[in-house]
Amino acid sequence: MRAKSPQRWIHQDLERARELLLKNVSPPGAIPGAIVASPSRSNPDYYFHWVRDAGIVVKAVLSLYQSAAQPAARRRYLSLMIDFVDFSRHIQRTAARSPAGLGEPKFTIDGEPYSGPWGRPQHDGPAIRAIELTRLAFVLLDEGKRELVREKLYDAKLPTDSVIKTDLEYVSHHWREPCFDLWEEVWGHHFFTRLLERMALVEGAALAARLEDAGAARWYLEQSRALGDELLLHWDPGRNHLVATRDQDGWPSPRSGLDSSVIVATLGGYATEEDLPLEGVSPYPVDQEQVLATAAAVERAFEAMYLINDPSMPNAGIAIGRYPEDRYDGYRTDSLGNPWPSLTIAFASYYYKLAERYLRQERAVLTSTNLPFFQRLPLEDARFRPGEELLRGDPRFGAVVDALRRKGDAFLGRVHQHINPDGSLSEQMNRYTGCQQGAPDLSMNYAAYILAAEIGGHRRSSR
Ligand code: NOJ
Ligand code: NOJ
Repeated sequence: MRAKSPQRWIHQDLERARELLLKNVSPPGAIPGAIVASPSRSNPDYYFHWVRDAGIVVKAVLSLYQSAAQPAARRRYLSLMIDFVDFSRHIQRTAARSPAGLGEPKFTIDGEPYSGPWGRPQHDGPAIRAIELTRLAFVLLDEGKRELVREKLYDAKLPTDSVIKTDLEYVSHHWREPCFDLWEEVWGHHFFTRLLERMALVEGAALAARLEDAGAARWYLEQSRALGDELLLHWDPGRNHLVATRDQDGWPSPRSGLDSSVIVATLGGYATEEDLPLEGVSPYPVDQEQVLATAAAVERAFEAMYLINDPSMPNAGIAIGRYPEDRYDGYRTDSLGNPWPSLTIAFASYYYKLAERYLRQERAVLTSTNLPFFQRLPLEDARFRPGEELLRGDPRFGAVVDALRRKGDAFLGRVHQHINPDGSLSEQMNRYTGCQQGAPDLSMNYAAYILAAEIGGHRRSSR
């Protein structure tokens, strides 16, 4: 049971997130299915379909579809997703005009690859799109819509003419190559990109198997295993956190490697591991000790760095940014980075997810690696020792689960504290004042909110 339920304001922020998100999907004048990262057309110009951002939005639309009670709402969400599928297939073809091919990160709302200089290729986009559309395919298969899936999502052909298989072929043949990171700044091998590529291959293999494409299923799994071995190299025992980028090259350097994208990656691009059609496929579930250690290190860094994270209010949610060395303030890159609503919201998801996972497993294990995480929980006089196992029934187990949920709510509370009166959220929150700044109405914020509210169990009584 949660003390002081924050349901009311969460429902309000959620309802506005849903409305504002839908405005950025197929905006007037766009090819249907195009999703803009933000309605802003200058300073900064975010009026593009970013493959990564759009994939996360579709994840949220799928979750709205699955929980919608009214048939009209379900039809609307389904048709948005099918438009997205058609648009995605279209840009997979026009991507041939980009030097980055399917690694092209952004497209105009007319479906043309962006032609200016940019950090490309970025390989996480096709992976995220494959993950979300594979999940859609499973949902539709379970509803008996096999023909629709075969026609729009996955054909078992080579060369393929379907959106998911096109992405899976790309990911399975290109994951060894370095690329730009999700922040579009650094060249190398990235934990975020790799973990999502791996999820795409594992889930894609499950879909291929279900649709009698056995050879492809084997190939995708083989590649996912080889990729899994590379992921292990991101652990830095000296710093006690996972490192975002290996073999780094480029601007700005050098970086510590501490980065909130590592935590976001474990959510499956804001999704949850339980959404996977297979059990236990992620080598980095939310309770993995290195992931816990990284979450603690990220929080500690941002807590000390941003003025709005006032140490005299220890129970306020910590505003989370991209990485400590960030210089992008939403307008220019020679400034100072800020906390981001989407990342602060993603941390809420992370805590909800973790609470859920411990409850399901009925135990939490303490190690010397994850101890810093437990020590940061808002608990009075709970003592933890490495090597201990907290089992259901131990009062400390219940206290930990409760503290995780409260901390999750606190991250949403932090965003609520700085939200615009109309419920809108920009890319960043000023590190000194909390004011919204950078691209207004960022789609990813609203998608992250919808998903966090779902995972946190705040959506049950909403539409
Ligand atoms: C916009 C990118 O999306 C952002 O990640 C980056 O920091 C700036 N441009 C500078 O390259
Ligand atoms: C900058 C972010 O770093 C990047 O991840 C995002 O895709 C773009 N902005 C568009 O929102």
